[in-house]
Amino acid sequence: MSTTLLATSSRKVFITLGGGRGVTNAVFRWRFVSVPRRSIIDLSYSTHFMDFKGSSIPSSMKKLVVTKLSQNFREAVSLQIVPVPTPGDGDLLVRNRFVGINASDINYTAGRYDASLKPPFDAGFEGIGEVVGLGLSASARFTVGDTVAYFGGGAFAEYTVVPAKTVVPVPSVKPQFLTLLVSGATAYIALKRLGDLAEGETVLVTAAAGGTGQFAVQFAKMAKCHVVGTCSSDEKSGFLKTIGCDRPINYKSEDLAGVLREEYPRGLDVIYESVGGSVFDLAVNCLAQKGRLIVIGFISGYQTASGLQPVRAGTLPVKLLQRSASVRGFFLPHFLPSDYGEALADTLRMCASGKLVCEVDIGEMTPEGRFVGVESIYRAIDHMYTGKNLGKVVVELAATVESEP
Ligand SMILES: NC(=O)c1ccc[n+]([C@@H]2O[C@H](COP(=O)([O-])OP(=O)(O)OC[C@H]3O[C@@H](n4cnc5c(N)ncnc54)[C@H](OP(=O)(O)O)[C@@H]3O)[C@@H](O)[C@H]2O)c1
Repeated sequence: MSTTLLATSSRKVFITLGGGRGVTNAVFRWRFVSVPRRSIIDLSYSTHFMDFKGSSIPSSMKKLVVTKLSQNFREAVSLQIVPVPTPGDGDLLVRNRFVGINASDINYTAGRYDASLKPPFDAGFEGIGEVVGLGLSASARFTVGDTVAYFGGGAFAEYTVVPAKTVVPVPSVKPQFLTLLVSGATAYIALKRLGDLAEGETVLVTAAAGGTGQFAVQFAKMAKCHVVGTCSSDEKSGFLKTIGCDRPINYKSEDLAGVLREEYPRGLDVIYESVGGSVFDLAVNCLAQKGRLIVIGFISGYQTASGLQPVRAGTLPVKLLQRSASVRGFFLPHFLPSDYGEALADTLRMCASGKLVCEVDIGEMTPEGRFVGVESIYRAIDHMYTGKNLGKVVVELAATVESEP
């Protein structure tokens, strides 16, 4: 007697009994049989779950889980060993090769993004890696071995399930491509949609040598603007020069307010502002007539309980009115998917052709060396929050593969 699995999308499946001797007979002999639920793609079918190098997927993996809301990443997050997740029908299972560190990782662990989100929940916003498993609908566009990047939750894990419709196909798993998903897209869209850049204008970028700052510098240069960038070391100043920044200012060795006042007496036309607090106040004071200050972030406050440093909000209306200037907020998720697709396509092309420098900091210059493995994400966050990073901070994940029994 042969048994054929015909459909698996409900808890009941059709089973044909017998050898199918004639259609009428077969139809009459069908009956519902209750069997345990199986996914369309099942981990037991190993051929569907072989990665492109032919190594099998382990049954368990490491990931970081937010177990307590806190702006202190080490307090908020714990390392857990959990089963490798199974993709749903429209999903991909991605083996993360690199994950990106963002200043807002600690806003997320502090519960500032979604007040309804209660621990435990997964951490990490972006990853790049290979597809190692996928659901049936997802297989219409993807296959095992494809290289993809994504901006989505749960990236701080060796494997992440991602909806296929949200991923970005990439030429390879180079970490440079990962820099575009959040950092590059933020600079591209914010300057394009809110900057109103015109040739010859002056643009100030704060935290200019960091993840998103490096892109703001380059896009402002591409728009033929004069670019000023702040940073905290001579090494970062040197890097900024190499990407076209006309006037890097190391605020540790030069007086930022004094330099801006003396060298830019007319003020700045556009300010891409990421630091907040007293730097935001200074930026407001430096706006030119009809100047545009884009609020990208306020990292100086993220490690505080409120997430904010005080600013001189009381005098803001008068300062803006006196110069017909404006302050504009930007938050990347509000520009998905409309502007995002164009930004990614354009920046991926520029990155692949070498027209855009996508600097990554993988911790090679730190005393403990490269950021490798989920455990090193803690170290990578500290590296960023002590202002030591040059470029986008990324962590390499070497997924563990169980040895054959
Ligand atoms: N709005 C959005 O949708 C969006 C998207 C992505 C990023 N962002 C924002 O962009 C900013 C940069 O984020 P990122 O992920 O690209 O980080 P990053 O620039 O790679 O790293 C942060 C940098 O900020 C500078 N910094 C200045 N004051 C600091 C302080 N008190 N504590 C720590 N760092 C300080 C440091 O550079 P120096 O030491 O050289 O000053 C540090 O290297 C953040 O405000 C973030 O929230 C916003």
